[in-house]
Amino acid sequence: MSPIVIKKAILLAGGEGTRLHPFTLYTSKHLLPVFDKPMIVYPLTNLILLGVETVYLVINAVHRAQWEALFKSLDLSVDILLIEQERPDGIPQAISLCESYLDGDPFFLALGDNILLGSGLLNRFCSQISDNPGDSIIISYKVSNPRFFGVAELDDNGELIKIVEKPTDIVSNLAIVGLYKFNSDAPSLVRNLKKSARGEYEISDLINQYIAMQKCQMLACNEASDYWLDTGTIESITSATIFLRELNLSGIKVIGNLTKD
Ligand code: TTP
Repeated sequence: MSPIVIKKAILLAGGEGTRLHPFTLYTSKHLLPVFDKPMIVYPLTNLILLGVETVYLVINAVHRAQWEALFKSLDLSVDILLIEQERPDGIPQAISLCESYLDGDPFFLALGDNILLGSGLLNRFCSQISDNPGDSIIISYKVSNPRFFGVAELDDNGELIKIVEKPTDIVSNLAIVGLYKFNSDAPSLVRNLKKSARGEYEISDLINQYIAMQKCQMLACNEASDYWLDTGTIESITSATIFLRELNLSGIKVIGNLTKD
């Protein structure tokens, strides 16, 4: 892995998970199984592979005891600090909640319901970071259903113009996946944000400020060897489970085993 020094990450596991009722009426979606692990283990493992030392895990307070029970059962090489989010006001709010811990350092932000696998993908991400230390770095993935995601709009030269959240018209098929690298300016940029029509602060609005300042680089996933899934619905949890099981049966070791046993 390239030599970058980013020791802190925010991992989001709050939210309401309304698309996963009734399960999320009594637990966090991030604690539900995807193949043989709780969903959160996949993004957490990527952060560990990226060399992070401290993870600020943003949770819904009602799930605290369940999170503590999970982390008691895992053998982790990172410190996890549970940060309670009172209301699910949107992804950028997590940056504000963690501002004092970030203490001006660059950091990763990862969504707890995103599974991102790839051959060399994290290395390419680290190279982008090393090559562009002053920029925020985002990752795109080609999808067939872009209207469900934040999507990259490009100009005729392939330059990034902006991110459009859940577009009704076709902008591109490049969804922005839930792993980002931001710099020390992120908390102050979050303070500029206004809630969107759906009543949330939007991560796309934060990224758009970086794009406007020409401080955003986008890494494209490799179609042949990278894999991304937003596991926010039963359908996507099920297809991710089937895919991971097939990989496992064919002997491909997808991700480190973090359990104590
Ligand atoms: P979403 O899938 O956008 O929202 P959600 O998890 O509440 O689900 P639903 O749309 O079904 O109601 O959230 C993306 C990720 O960000 C997910 O891992 C939860 C997390 N999140 C927070 O931690 N805090 C928030 O305020 C929001 C909106 C999301």
